[in-house]
Amino acid sequence: MTLRFFKTLVVMMIASALQANAISIISGPYLQNVTDSEVTIVWRTDKDALSWVEIAPDDDLHFYSEAHPRYYATDMGRAVIGKLHKVKIKKLDKNTTYRYRVVSKEVTDEQPYYVIYGRHTSTDVYGRKPLKFTTADSNTDKVNFLVVNDMHGDTAKMTDLLSNFRKGTTDFVFFNGDMVNFMDNEQQLFDGFIDRSVKLFASETPFYMARGNHESRGRFARNYMNYFPTSTGKPYYTLRRGPIFFIVLDGGEDKPDTDIEYSGTTFGDEYRAEQAEWLNEIVATDEFKQAPFKVVVTHVPPVGDTWHGPLHAKSLLLPILNKAGIDLMLCAHLHRHKYNEPGTEGAQFPVLINSNTELLKIDADSKKLNVEIIKRDGTTSKKLSYDSRVK
Ligand SMILES: [Fe+2]
Repeated sequence: MTLRFFKTLVVMMIASALQANAISIISGPYLQNVTDSEVTIVWRTDKDALSWVEIAPDDDLHFYSEAHPRYYATDMGRAVIGKLHKVKIKKLDKNTTYRYRVVSKEVTDEQPYYVIYGRHTSTDVYGRKPLKFTTADSNTDKVNFLVVNDMHGDTAKMTDLLSNFRKGTTDFVFFNGDMVNFMDNEQQLFDGFIDRSVKLFASETPFYMARGNHESRGRFARNYMNYFPTSTGKPYYTLRRGPIFFIVLDGGEDKPDTDIEYSGTTFGDEYRAEQAEWLNEIVATDEFKQAPFKVVVTHVPPVGDTWHGPLHAKSLLLPILNKAGIDLMLCAHLHRHKYNEPGTEGAQFPVLINSNTELLKIDADSKKLNVEIIKRDGTTSKKLSYDSRVK
């Protein structure tokens, strides 16, 4: 072996070792809680890092044309350092597309008076076009979205159903609960559906979650909000997209709180009562009343079942919703299709329970809301249509 060859070999080995140790983005980024003026961007790295997002106008200039504003994840006045990165950007213009780059700078040591940084990693703005997101517009007349539920970690089925996703046309995807079997650890959540969502759409189109009873189970369930931030900071929240005002409820668990399966850890009755109180406030707002369509999204249907959770939701939430003039309730949980006309089982509005093998494709303008139920093979099994009752 010549000396020159030996030197080259050593350099290559060092470069390879450095590369192997370089920080990487291992999940995401994915968009959450997109509103008229805000977006939250979430991603994971394999090493602790300080992270930020840079945003740029969606114009013809290269991303490197100038320095762009940076938005950091902060808490109590300090940058968040860790492997999960969640950056909320506020004061954006509505109905506007922005280009973005996420950046993570490895932190190898954090002492009281100095921080030691390692290498950095980012999404690509050089080898490919930068990622983009578009803010919502509650004054726009149109919206188009998909609903999938009860995938229980079946990413192949989820991929087939989401073949109906159309970039530029589909405004967002709703995951109506039970996307995983339970929440045991972070990796399971990403393997279960988040990583696949990123591959399919979620870096540039947001998804919204309605928590299912299976996402409330397991030792990791208490971390739910870290991954799916909402406007209320709770799994129940409201959302205005186009002509639709959404109320997203968390049906909680299905059995009585004292059931042996919950081992004394479940307080669903109290939780549903808290939501009923909140719901009374929401339906009294002008924003709710004036919306052309009012749609409730809740995983566990408050009809069609005589288990404790649904019965409790029926007695507590249905009276409020019946008075509020709901146009449609979207549910899941039963793993089969069921459709209740208004006036059935105590609900004065239509209740559509989606199966675990079909997708809902919904579009609306201020006059009409249309639902198409699409099977895994791409064929349509049913179409429904509703007129706005707001004059
Ligand atoms: Fe369920």
